Amino acid sequence: MADYETILVERRDAVTLLTLNRPQALNALNSQVLAELLRALADYDADPAQRCAVLTGSERAFAAGADIKEMAGQGFADMYAGNFFAGYEQLTRTRKPLIAAVAGYALGGGCELAMMCDFILAADTAKFGQPEIKLGVSPGMGGSQRLARAVGKAKAMEMVLTGRMIDADEAERAGLVSRVVPAAELLDEALRTAATIAEMAPLAAMANKEMVNAAFETTLAQGVQFERRLFHALFGTADQKEGMAAFVEKRAGQWSGR
Ligand code: CAA
Repeated sequence: MADYETILVERRDAVTLLTLNRPQALNALNSQVLAELLRALADYDADPAQRCAVLTGSERAFAAGADIKEMAGQGFADMYAGNFFAGYEQLTRTRKPLIAAVAGYALGGGCELAMMCDFILAADTAKFGQPEIKLGVSPGMGGSQRLARAVGKAKAMEMVLTGRMIDADEAERAGLVSRVVPAAELLDEALRTAATIAEMAPLAAMANKEMVNAAFETTLAQGVQFERRLFHALFGTADQKEGMAAFVEKRAGQWSGR
């Protein structure tokens, strides 16, 4: 996978590890990063041997935002006609599980990118923020919407209006991250968590992800109905037969992915 310049892509058994790799710019997200991430995630989604992915950055920064130097000279017409940042919608359509492992700064687009993942594991060094207002702009990759859903109106409003960063403990209390671990253990813990998910029946993993995401797009009644229909659909899979037989026979399930 030598043709990536701004990310590193490794396959560790059934887990794909994606590492943002622009250390000179604290992993600021430019158009090339987006294009490479989309390509790597499309490959991940298409490869039946890959069951879970982890997206991480460096010790110092997950990502310090969208690349300010790339945006600085743009005008409204460029941004609007080019539909700037719209490509990130594609990233959120990744169907298989995607974990963000965040150490250091996750600011602006970095925080937004982490929130596009299925859940965030944070190092105790992580700092989250939406400081765009200090640049005379606003979140542009969905941050105002995803942050409000994750932490509620009060904290989201305070964060976007003041640009204040929150540390890992505050992020955990607010529900932005699933867990905080010591920085030295972040990657191992993320890979261990990904390996656990990778051991699940793949269609069930996809369906579980899809139904939790539906909670953010539907009414409660529609979401519950959607969950029930997907639950019913899983009874059409070989892995449901295998999973329930394995439980009864007190052995581990052997998934076929069918
Ligand atoms: N874009 C481009 N370059 C960036 C960057 C960004 N978002 N963040 C950091 N860099 C660059 C710096 O310019 C610097 O480059 P040079 O060495 O060439 O000067 C290098 O990364 C290291 O950064 P600092 O010297 O600033 O490091 P620091 O430790 O002193 O400060 C920081 C760290 C507090 C994170 C600071 O870099 C910072 O405030 N960065 C910008 C954060 C920000 O405003 N993010 C939001 C961007 S806008 C956005 O994301 C829009 C959106 O909604 C999607």
